[in-house]
Amino acid sequence: MSFNYLFFGLALCVLIWISWRFASYRWVLPCPVWLHRLLEYDNPLTRANQTNVILSNLALAPGMNVLDAGCGPGRLTIPLAKKIGAQGRVTALDIQAGMLQKVQEKAKREGIHTIQLLQAGLGDGKLGHNQYDRALLVTVLGEIPHQKAAMQELFDALKPGGLVVVTESMFDPHFQSQSTVLRLAQEIGFRKKGVMGNRLAYSLQLEKPH
Ligand SMILES: C[S@@+](CC[C@H](N)C(=O)[O-])C[C@H]1O[C@@H](n2cnc3c(N)ncnc32)[C@H](O)[C@@H]1O
Repeated sequence: MSFNYLFFGLALCVLIWISWRFASYRWVLPCPVWLHRLLEYDNPLTRANQTNVILSNLALAPGMNVLDAGCGPGRLTIPLAKKIGAQGRVTALDIQAGMLQKVQEKAKREGIHTIQLLQAGLGDGKLGHNQYDRALLVTVLGEIPHQKAAMQELFDALKPGGLVVVTESMFDPHFQSQSTVLRLAQEIGFRKKGVMGNRLAYSLQLEKPH
């Protein structure tokens, strides 16, 4: 009997995963704010793309200007702000106000004053040109229906020589394969600098050429 319940539960999860994935090709269906716990530091699902590993790919230095695009509740935003110090600046961009509120609460608790919140969709044209030394796009791309516009805005917003790290994990229903991301990025003008991980969870390091 309990096996039947387990099987039914798993089948339901898979069905939700598949439906959410395919619906996202057409509509904007971001990860809801009430699921923010899934995106926190200590969650076993996000442990597959660990915060420290992702940040180590960014070659951060104190005083940098960094964009966390699709920041969610700030799993990466807060450690990022700590790494670049009081002279640095982080823009936490997210389409959902509820996610930005979580970032704000964490920043307040930690006494961090260098995070600027920006509620906007990546691809909507709200970022300036040649502003950022570094950018992060962690498990976000698959939630964006107009991916080319989003990647183009990211490219324009980076300074020449700037780096973006795109991280994807198979646990995410919006998972994007490495070849898909690379093809899109190269079409726009990014250059591949490196990659870490494997087919199921990887971080792709892309550079905006000088
Ligand atoms: C799966 S969460 C990842 C959050 C965070 N990057 C992390 O790894 O913990 C995806 C986030 O992207 C945001 N998002 C979805 N579409 C977006 C868009 N077009 N522009 C900016 N943020 C977006 C969602 O609101 C959500 O907070």
